[in-house]
Formats: sequence, structure tokens, C-alpha cells
Amino acid sequence: MTRELRPVGIIGTGSYAPPRVLTNFDLARMVDTSDEWIRTRTGIQERHIAEADVATSDLALGSARSALESAGISAADIDLVIVATITPDMFFPCTASLLQQALGAHRATAFDILVGCTGFVYGMAVCGALIGSGAYQRALVVGAETLSKVTDWEDRSTCVLFGDAAGAAVLAPVSEGGGILAYSLGNDGTHADALKIPGGGSRMPASEQSVADRCHYLTMNGPEVFKFAVRAMAESSEEAVSQAGLTMSDIDIVIPHQANLRIIAAAAKRLSIPYERFVRNLDRYGNTSAASIPLALDEAVRDGRIRPGHHVLLSSFGAGLSWGTLVLRW
Ligand code: ACO
Repeated sequence: MTRELRPVGIIGTGSYAPPRVLTNFDLARMVDTSDEWIRTRTGIQERHIAEADVATSDLALGSARSALESAGISAADIDLVIVATITPDMFFPCTASLLQQALGAHRATAFDILVGCTGFVYGMAVCGALIGSGAYQRALVVGAETLSKVTDWEDRSTCVLFGDAAGAAVLAPVSEGGGILAYSLGNDGTHADALKIPGGGSRMPASEQSVADRCHYLTMNGPEVFKFAVRAMAESSEEAVSQAGLTMSDIDIVIPHQANLRIIAAAAKRLSIPYERFVRNLDRYGNTSAASIPLALDEAVRDGRIRPGHHVLLSSFGAGLSWGTLVLRW
């Protein structure tokens, strides 16, 4: 990149989770598992689950309205809407288009990003470039998921992990020295099979057979993703922090992807950042994929853990397998 970009940062955040809560004890009545196994292996205690008639764009709308309110602007001021999701309302049109309409952001360009849990960080980086170049002024980036709709509720190795939620951020030009300082994004397709929904695409169109074989549910090689996650978060954080001209001791707060407390603890150890600086809310939400980072970010902004001048690190990994870390000065 040779052209100077203007600084771009977050001017408002929001989040939304559906009201229904499913606890580990509820799950223990559905599959062969226990609260003790789920808590000790993952850190999750409960998750929110959308009702049957609620789709991803409905959750996205709740988070977007709250982000616009916190930014003090209206939907008409937004000229770019990006939704990161692996559970779109439908194949097409994109969920961002449905959100644009529901929100009344009629001037906005709208598109989705499909990079699993890493999607929100990718969306932020894309906004940094598009607003930074002057092409757009105010963007809404939303991570929204209804993973419960693609969860195999008979598979104890996955159904205990995921939840439904949405989180959003409004991005705009900010003062010199603030906003997005650096990011590191990447993908390793050699692990593409580790995390996927095999059926329903052009490789395996929906058929009676694909439904009978349960191919429309999310499948995952947990231990493979686990090992990858710790390495990817650590290496991309080191790269992004160094590109920002900072060291790990400058990082005030980390918003990690909320997949597993053991992954977060291992990343904290590798990065030598105190564990207390890592925001954790997966005990209450589970893994909400692309929604997990903006959901935790919004919580930390609202309860005052993130304050002006703080260096904030967002770090994620997900399907692809992909990774993405972004450093901000708040
Ligand atoms: N309850 C009880 N026992 C279980 C359960 C359960 N819910 N699930 C699995 N087990 C059993 C297994 O059958 C296995 O039994 P065995 O030893 O008799 O074969 C045992 O527990 C251990 O299973 P592992 O898979 O080795 O357990 P592990 O400690 O690796 O934890 C976990 C599994 C939690 C999935 C972990 O690997 C993990 O968190 N991986 C990363 C997942 C992740 O981050 N995913 C991101 C998805 S992001 C996206 O894009 C959606």
C-alpha cells in the first residue's frame, strides 16, 4: 500500500442476543454430556438460542440499532453495510442487503463476508481501507449468527459449543493517531476440512440423501482447530502489534474470539499478556462465531473496561482455517 489512508476508528458499538437461554444442564438432558464436562473443557455455562422464526438478519438488526444509537447517528448516515456471517438468512440475497432494508440504510452499499469466526475482523479491515481511502464515510460492520440453525443437536461434540447473537460497530474517520493502527489477516486452506457445513452448496446440493446423512450441519475436528487457534492467534497478534509500532506490554485489553477458555489462556501465556486483560464472556454466550468479537467488544465498551487512549487487540480464528488480528487505539 503506497497511498496514505486517513485514520478510521469505531465511533459506536452495539449487540443483541435472543432472550431464550439454554444451560449446560438443559443440554445434559438432550445428549450424553454434563455441565462439568462442558465447563471444564470449554468454560461455557449457557448460550442464547433464537426462536424458530428468528433469522440472522433479525439479530443483526438489534445490534445495528444499538450501535447506531451509541454512535449518535441515523441509518441514513451509513453508506456501507457489511455483515460477517456463516449463517445467512438464505444463500442470496446477502444478509447485509436484508439488513440495509430493515434498518432503512437506503444509501448504503451492502455485502456479506463469509470467513467463519474471523469475519468481523475482516470486515473491520475492509472498512479501514474503504473509509480510509475516502470512498466511504460511515460504515456499519455486523457479526451475526444463528448457529443453532446449523447445529446437529444429536452431536454432543459440537452442540454444546455454539450460541446465537449479533454484535455491531460503526466505523468512521477519526483524529490522527487513533483508530485502526494495523492488522494481520490470513488463511490456510490445507485445514479447510476441519470446520465446515458439507451440504447445500454446489459440491453437494441439498437432496434427500444429504439430509438423511446430516450433511447440512456444522462439522468440526475440535483438536485440530484447537492447535491451529493458539498458534494463529499468537503469531498474527505478534505481527499486528509489531506493525503498529507497539509491544505486547502496550496492549491494554484483548478481545479474543470466544471459542474456548483454554484457547484464550494458552494464547495469553504465549503472548505474555496478563490473562485478566482478555475479555471473556463465553460462559454466558458460548461460541457465537462472527458475532463473538463485537459482542465482547460492546460489553467491554459499555462497562468501561475500554477507555479513550487504550490499545485494543481484536484476535480471531475460524473456518478456512482463517485468522485475523487487528490493533486499535480507542
Ligand atoms: N460431553 C461429554 N464428552 C464429550 C463431549 C461432550 N459434549 N464432547 C466430546 N466428548 C468426549 C469425546 O467423545 C472424547 O471421548 P473419548 O476420549 O472417549 O473418545 C473426549 O470427550 C475428549 O474429546 P476431545 O474432542 O479430545 O476433547 P477436547 O479436550 O479436545 O475438547 C473441544 C473438545 C472443546 C471441541 C476442543 O477441541 C475445542 O475447543 N476445539 C476448538 C473448537 C473451536 O475453537 N472451534 C471454533 C469454531 S469457529 C467457527 O468458525 C464456527
